Amino acid sequence: MQIIKNVCDIRELIKAWQAAGETIAFVPTMGNLHAGHLQLVKRAKAVANRVVVSIFVNPTQFGVGEDFETYPRTEKADQEKLIADGVDVLFLPAVDDIYTVDARTTVTVAEVSEWYCGASRPGHFAGVATVVCKLFNIVQPDIALFGLKDFQQLTIIRIMVRDLNIPVEIMGVDTVRESSGLAMSSRNGYLTDHENQVASELYRILCVARDAILEDACSYNEVENQAFVALQEVGFKPDYISLCRSCDLKKATPEDRDLVLLAAVRLGKTRLIDNIYFSK
Ligand code: PAJ
Repeated sequence: MQIIKNVCDIRELIKAWQAAGETIAFVPTMGNLHAGHLQLVKRAKAVANRVVVSIFVNPTQFGVGEDFETYPRTEKADQEKLIADGVDVLFLPAVDDIYTVDARTTVTVAEVSEWYCGASRPGHFAGVATVVCKLFNIVQPDIALFGLKDFQQLTIIRIMVRDLNIPVEIMGVDTVRESSGLAMSSRNGYLTDHENQVASELYRILCVARDAILEDACSYNEVENQAFVALQEVGFKPDYISLCRSCDLKKATPEDRDLVLLAAVRLGKTRLIDNIYFSK
């Protein structure tokens, strides 16, 4: 695996691959790689000739008082995992390579960036959209892979790519979970043993809510309210739990068929997100 830190160097290599007619799949990450990230890598290998993974803890998507400084940085272990999984290139830029001090341009996907996680993390999705747009311009992949775990992020990136005519296919990959049901996340490392047990209740409560929706037992609002209370009862501080239509994350109506139930909670110092994507 080649490790490239410099924008010019990766552009040169990608150009050579493209000239040779090779296809490129790209997996952007912030590192501290776990089985969820590696599932994206596995899919990437299956759909293209070359796989590029980036590790960049992007400062602009962290709010004031969030965990940018303490976000787990595990470079060596990450590199070993990527080598074992047959990745061609690890792109490892420094903050200065991505953001010049006089940068004036950001990418904002209106409306949907302000809902759900965007409401409690102002500016977060502009930071994500801007860095992903820049990484797409640097790597110029044919396909880029993102986890369904971050469903709102995936939706925002799909909209950005459509609106800005970025020539990349976006592929969503199913959420990888612990045997307890807890969605794998770099932030799970912040949980205490007790919190870890409570954390698995998030997915269980989402499943109960999904089943109630499929059974048409009560209105969507009632299902959301019951799930919110259930989250509180097991010890979470719920931020939101919302039933949306999966295409644009607007509130679901009974006519919508492709649905996603999105949730975010606080547990001690940790913010957890999860969702279930299903059809009615
Ligand atoms: P990060 O949290 O490192 O996640 C990188 C990719 O892995 C994202 O597409 C995310 O959805 C996916 N992922 C995380 N946990 C997963 C799981 N349990 N199952 C499947 N996929 C999972 O998301 C980011 O980084 C950043 O916002 C980024 C897109 C890199 C922009 O900075």
